[in-house]
Amino acid sequence: KIIRAFAPATVANVSCGFDVLGFAVDQPGDEVEIALNASAEVVIKSIVGDKGRLPLQADKNTAGVAVMSLLNALGLKQGVEITLYKNLPLGSGMGSSAASAVAALIGINYLLGEPFQKKDLLPFAMEAERVACGAAHADNVAPSLLGGVVLVRGYDPLDVVDIPLSGQLYCTLAHPNIELKTEDSRQVLRQNIPLKDAITQWGNIAGLVAGLMKPDYDLIGRSLKDVVAEPIRSLLIPGFNEIKDAAVKEGALGCGISGSGPTLFALSKNYSTADRVGRAMQLQFLKHKLNSEFYVSEV
Ligand code: HSE
Repeated sequence: KIIRAFAPATVANVSCGFDVLGFAVDQPGDEVEIALNASAEVVIKSIVGDKGRLPLQADKNTAGVAVMSLLNALGLKQGVEITLYKNLPLGSGMGSSAASAVAALIGINYLLGEPFQKKDLLPFAMEAERVACGAAHADNVAPSLLGGVVLVRGYDPLDVVDIPLSGQLYCTLAHPNIELKTEDSRQVLRQNIPLKDAITQWGNIAGLVAGLMKPDYDLIGRSLKDVVAEPIRSLLIPGFNEIKDAAVKEGALGCGISGSGPTLFALSKNYSTADRVGRAMQLQFLKHKLNSEFYVSEV
């Protein structure tokens, strides 16, 4: 039996929630075709859409690592064959490595008769993130797996909380045709945060969560700020400030870096604003000699 599984792109950090907050979009996402076989090996049969850039070795590919880590936990030597349909651009900040891992986990868990509940698949997906970028962060894998807005309240032990949204919210993702490796954009971050910045950041993250739950759109807008990662990472994104200003001027509640970038996200109250915001962001990217595509999705 071959089954096909999908996992969506995600926006990690959501400005003020570095490594602790993320949400899923409807599309785009990665897909896998996955089947069990009589061998004892996990094999990536082929990858479609990566232009030959991702490793086919299962222990280096996030889909393979996630599946191997799940099988290890069960003490199973099971043959598995995976075809990965890589729809998400690499190094985009849209949770591309996470989506491949999550799609593969949904698939293998189903084929094995669902030995794990969805939430319990998280550690295996985090293992894949560790291989992809050196850090087992969960703010992409958790929303990709569980959907919606997800808070990683703690890592040790892992404590993942879904944040129920009231009210409609639309996300624009504008993806320029440059790449940033998460590993590199983590390395530029400072390791210590002045108390003043920490106070600003935790005020904003609490404000954002409250704003999403109430809903209070002004509060969401006021809280979409990042004084920890954005000041440094934005230097790697040509035209960042102009693009952000253009998004807000067009009616977005706020705008920031999606995950580790270079994709930018903006949140809007309705679809038509989110669509206009996408066009405005695209235009600004173009002014900085970058082609981009944008996606609009309900959060
Ligand atoms: N929280 C992670 C980071 C997400 O910002 O490095 C990576 O997409």
